[in-house]
Amino acid sequence: MSSQQEKEIQRRRTFGIISHPDAGKTTLTEKLLLFGGAIQMAGAVKSRKTSQHAVSDWMAIEQERGISVTSSVMKFNYRDFEVNLLDTPGHQDFSEDTYRVLTAVDSALMVIDNAKGVETQTEKLMEVCRMRNTPVITFINKLDREGLEPLEILADIEDKLQIECTPLSWPIGMGKGFKGVYDLYRRELQLFTPGQTVRPQDRIVITDLDDPQLDAALGRQADKLRGDIELLQGAANPFDLTEYLKASQSPVFFGSAINNFGVKELLDAFVELAPCPGPRATVTRMVAPEEEQFSGFTFKIQANMNPAHRDRIAFFRICSGKFTRGMKVRHHRLGKEVALANATIFMAQDRSNIEEAWPGDIIGIHNHGTIKIGDTFSDKEELKFTGIPNFAPEHFRRVILRNPLKMKQLNKGLMQLAEEGAVQLFRPILGSDYILGAVGVLQFEVTMSRLKVEYGVEAISEAAPYGAARWISCPDRKKLDEFKAKNQGNLALDAEGQLAFLAASEWRLNYTMENSPDIVFHKTREYS
Ligand code: G4P
Repeated sequence: MSSQQEKEIQRRRTFGIISHPDAGKTTLTEKLLLFGGAIQMAGAVKSRKTSQHAVSDWMAIEQERGISVTSSVMKFNYRDFEVNLLDTPGHQDFSEDTYRVLTAVDSALMVIDNAKGVETQTEKLMEVCRMRNTPVITFINKLDREGLEPLEILADIEDKLQIECTPLSWPIGMGKGFKGVYDLYRRELQLFTPGQTVRPQDRIVITDLDDPQLDAALGRQADKLRGDIELLQGAANPFDLTEYLKASQSPVFFGSAINNFGVKELLDAFVELAPCPGPRATVTRMVAPEEEQFSGFTFKIQANMNPAHRDRIAFFRICSGKFTRGMKVRHHRLGKEVALANATIFMAQDRSNIEEAWPGDIIGIHNHGTIKIGDTFSDKEELKFTGIPNFAPEHFRRVILRNPLKMKQLNKGLMQLAEEGAVQLFRPILGSDYILGAVGVLQFEVTMSRLKVEYGVEAISEAAPYGAARWISCPDRKKLDEFKAKNQGNLALDAEGQLAFLAASEWRLNYTMENSPDIVFHKTREYS
């Protein structure tokens, strides 16, 4: 490994922001990008949600509903760090997409609304982080509004999310009485002035809480802060970097994203504490970022980002080695060598072509359908990164084509959307219908709308008689054939030709499972 590679790895931070919709993820993203100098103007990210011409707002449905359906990647520099921020859809119906995005990060930032505490989607997203042992920093937002008591929120997080909290900053009042935060990490007081979004750099350094400066700045609230901190010292465990990196402790910050308050403290601590790119598992071995050989995997495909070009972008996380423009790599699924000539890096303002990139970086590779989710590229060695699953769908629809002459476009559209992970596609062994499967029902709406807009296909989706699905396998060929013969009417092939069992209900599925002890039923399937 070159010393440059070591340096580049050390200064990279690749993370995702997770939150329940409306907690303030977009607002916080925007402020973080402002600090990174990546955007000049407040409102630039926010406008993605509403503007017709915005970069990631390419999907009409996203605009109509004001939700973030797709996730995008933004890169910015802060101090000496290169930060890759991966945005995730907050809406629960797109949790599969979120899961895949989180396979490409090294840590996460969780935003919580101080009036709401832990919400359902926060719980789900945190579950994903726990499955992967992703370290999480917490930001409690909207302190400029009345909300729950800080200790109550911490208890709520510990209770519902099963992670120990350790505050690194502490709020002084809230709502109209919000005075600021005390930075427990640096022992500094930062005062809040409502409506001021450019924060003065001067903070009051208070190492001893009995310092009369505290009374001068906070008046009667000084004693409350002293009491709170005393209570905290007794109740909360001290911050322990190893525990955070092991994902068993989450450092907590308080602030107000819209007022740009507490955000810089959060970002400073984030770059200092969050892990740099780490090793990744493949089927055969762990791959360390320091290795010289280039390797990485595709975690997301986005088609037709620019309708004028009708191309597809594969989002590719570099796991080891160095990327240089035009380099030749092995595309293992196809068993072919390909040249990565046309790669993009997602700078926050714009996409730009890159000359080189390092582990932790996300590059976008233009292609016409040759790259799928889960595809691994490397210099030579045959590798296959693991942990990028499909989840068994819970909702099903049959696709009815309005104009039979558009069958070819329908096939193409559905295949591409399935490869992109927007929806799952099944062809029953008996019959010729297409069955769509999804984890969240909004995925169907997105699919139908995209079929129309991007592929010119007028189709409708109607209820299908299924309620549960599992991929199936069996080491004993004969037993599998017997099962197939008996259950033909419930078998289907997915977009990658894998055999799946579609059941009318969860109850029917369990019944079949109990009566078929030789068959293995899989709730998730890794991309092959
Ligand atoms: P999301 O991406 O997590 O869905 O949340 P987003 O940033 O869009 O924020 C949701 C709402 O919360 C927005 O209000 C936003 O202005 C507000 N918000 C974000 N941070 C703070 C904060 O620190 N304090 C307060 N008081 N509000 C905050 P909105 O009315 O839905 O949108 P808009 O009309 O302000 O654009």
